[in-house]
Amino acid sequence: MNIIVGITGGIAAYKTATLIRLLVKEGHDVKVVMTPMAKQFITPLTVATLSKNPILVDFFSPENGAWNSHVSLGLWADVMVIAPATANTIAKMTNGVADNLLLTTYLSARCPVLIAPSMDLDMYAHPATQKNLEQLRSVGVRMVEPYEGELASGLVGKGRMAEPEEIASAVSDLLAEKSSNPLNGKRFMLTAGPTYEKMDAVRFIGNYSSGKMGFAIAEELAKRGAKVDLIAGPVQLKVSSRNIVRYNVESAAQMYEKCVEFFPKSDGAIMTAAVADFTPSVKLDYKMKRKGDIELTLKPTADIAAEMGRLKRDNQVLVGFALETNDEETNAHHKLESKNLDFIVLNSLNDKGAGFMHDTNKITIIDRTGEVTPFSLKSKKEVARDIVDYLEKMMER
Ligand code: CTP
Repeated sequence: MNIIVGITGGIAAYKTATLIRLLVKEGHDVKVVMTPMAKQFITPLTVATLSKNPILVDFFSPENGAWNSHVSLGLWADVMVIAPATANTIAKMTNGVADNLLLTTYLSARCPVLIAPSMDLDMYAHPATQKNLEQLRSVGVRMVEPYEGELASGLVGKGRMAEPEEIASAVSDLLAEKSSNPLNGKRFMLTAGPTYEKMDAVRFIGNYSSGKMGFAIAEELAKRGAKVDLIAGPVQLKVSSRNIVRYNVESAAQMYEKCVEFFPKSDGAIMTAAVADFTPSVKLDYKMKRKGDIELTLKPTADIAAEMGRLKRDNQVLVGFALETNDEETNAHHKLESKNLDFIVLNSLNDKGAGFMHDTNKITIIDRTGEVTPFSLKSKKEVARDIVDYLEKMMER
């Protein structure tokens, strides 16, 4: 996709370098328009190198007089993102002032526009700025809210520009809304992370699942315009997309309850959670005292994926995971059948870099037609893309 990144003269401009890198890495064609003031905060050379395109600042190129057409730039873009957006630029945008290339491009752009405001807390809170932002919102300009935090002035308050990852994710959401992706507008339920099964007031039985694979899939679905209900066990991860609604649960029983609630409302579900298979039969409300050997009686938890398989309607897709240590494919085939899944994502602990606790994974997808598709070792983000591609193809059939 074609993205214009507008940079204005704010101290947060240094963070825009990371934003550009993230957008280029996602495969977008990025052109950067800077206000003359922005050059004081980040060098055109840095920005040109990262964006792989020459920087546009003036209406004419000073070297050869070539015309930088704001009109064709505005038409070229699928999205325009202005980060940082200073109080000055926001005020000019509101009033249609056209005294630099960034502003004329904004006025000519027919694509969605996103701004990431960045300024001192009092400037941000000022009624003039708030009125301008309100007016921009009313004409459809999107905004990634600034954070509360320490500002360049040393004061603490709201005005710190959102992090590049969050802005990149908001750009993806905007692109997804526009696209005609078959997943656009669909709703998916996703389970992720481990579950903790309470033993007593301070102890639980858990597992090493980090939730990274599930969260990466949630982000990928959201990027393609799907709404995601993410039912997450206890993990230290954040979601950045507005298309994801997260529900935190702890135990297998709580996860089950949420799944029964959300699955009927969804077009499909992806069960990535490492759900505990057993839970203590008795859960003590006090802390168990140290004594000699203790015997712990465990009872099985509900098989959530299997229950979803029973509830599944013809127009729903159900995807499961299988983490295996031996007889991998045979076990995965068995789970595919017994849980009534449409496809299963198999990872083997015998593959280096696969499974829990890694940033990478190596998967094989097995579907109901018997097709077996192996993939190479990749980052979990890339694996998420492969899985969602597979899902997309299946839903098109
Ligand atoms: N699963 C689930 N609820 C459970 C156990 C598993 O929803 N109580 C889901 C997992 O999220 C995964 C699939 O079922 O998508 C397979 O999980 P896995 O742990 O590999 O299989 P189990 O059915 O638990 O079988 P086993 O542990 O005996 O291999």
